[in-house]
Amino acid sequence: MSLFGVLDRLSEVPSFDKQLEAARTAVNKVLRPKAFKDVLHGTWLGHPLHPILAMVPVGTWLSAGLLDLVPATRPAATAMIGAGVAGSVPAALAGAADWSEQDDAVRRLGGLHAVSNVAALGLYVGSLVARGKGNGTLGRVLSYSGLLVASGSAAVGGHMSYAQSSGANHAVVEARQLTTDWIDLGPLDDLPEGRPTRRTGEGQGTPVALVVVRRGLTVDAFIDACAHVGGPLSDGTVENVRGSDCLVCPWHGSAFSLDNGEPRRGPTASAQEKLEVKFEAGRVFGRLPNRHTPK
Ligand code: FES
Repeated sequence: MSLFGVLDRLSEVPSFDKQLEAARTAVNKVLRPKAFKDVLHGTWLGHPLHPILAMVPVGTWLSAGLLDLVPATRPAATAMIGAGVAGSVPAALAGAADWSEQDDAVRRLGGLHAVSNVAALGLYVGSLVARGKGNGTLGRVLSYSGLLVASGSAAVGGHMSYAQSSGANHAVVEARQLTTDWIDLGPLDDLPEGRPTRRTGEGQGTPVALVVVRRGLTVDAFIDACAHVGGPLSDGTVENVRGSDCLVCPWHGSAFSLDNGEPRRGPTASAQEKLEVKFEAGRVFGRLPNRHTPK
């Protein structure tokens, strides 16, 4: 089994689920109000914030490792370590916010990621203390140990993002499958007012679920799988969120503007894939803009 196969196995072990659930409850209590949590998700940015903030400890600690190789640049290494310790706090808060809205398998690996990061942080703080007391050798041993642990933790985080798709836009995957031809979404009169309705489009071998919302003579159509982790938006609701009529996901409450698919409330940081719509002889047709056409 490959190293990363071990991580997949670990993500299936439920032994610490009770502790992880307690941690999730604590995270949700601490990261209030919801608007603060959305800032940490990156909903306002249209991109997850955690990987951006994580660049600070990763970059500074790696730089410190290089600066420590040359005696003349060791004071700069200490400064880098201090910056990384400070930068790890917002990165951890953003990671915790994202982690709390994921499924069990991702949360299990996230627990390992968090414990490793805390261990790395402890080693770096110990390194700063040792350096402050003039024990440079111990300081360097501790910081190189921290770099090793942080690198392992980064690999776990990467596995969560890439293999478990924890930070991916799940609607894009579906959108890539969908035909770029016009799709018949049925008669306008069959669509209920202000209620998400499921429709199906032709995909590459399998049908792709769509969700359609009618507001008077306006119809908005989207990929049904929520950008966050694929929840069925057609089982959701239409609500006014922060001044916009939004399609709200039934799984974690992400809200997407009906006008343009932009997120108005997290945990999603991505916009929902929206179809263009036209009317012909009382019927509604939708089509995905061409950017996902298979080559
Ligand atoms: S799947 Fe999480 S908000 Fe939709």
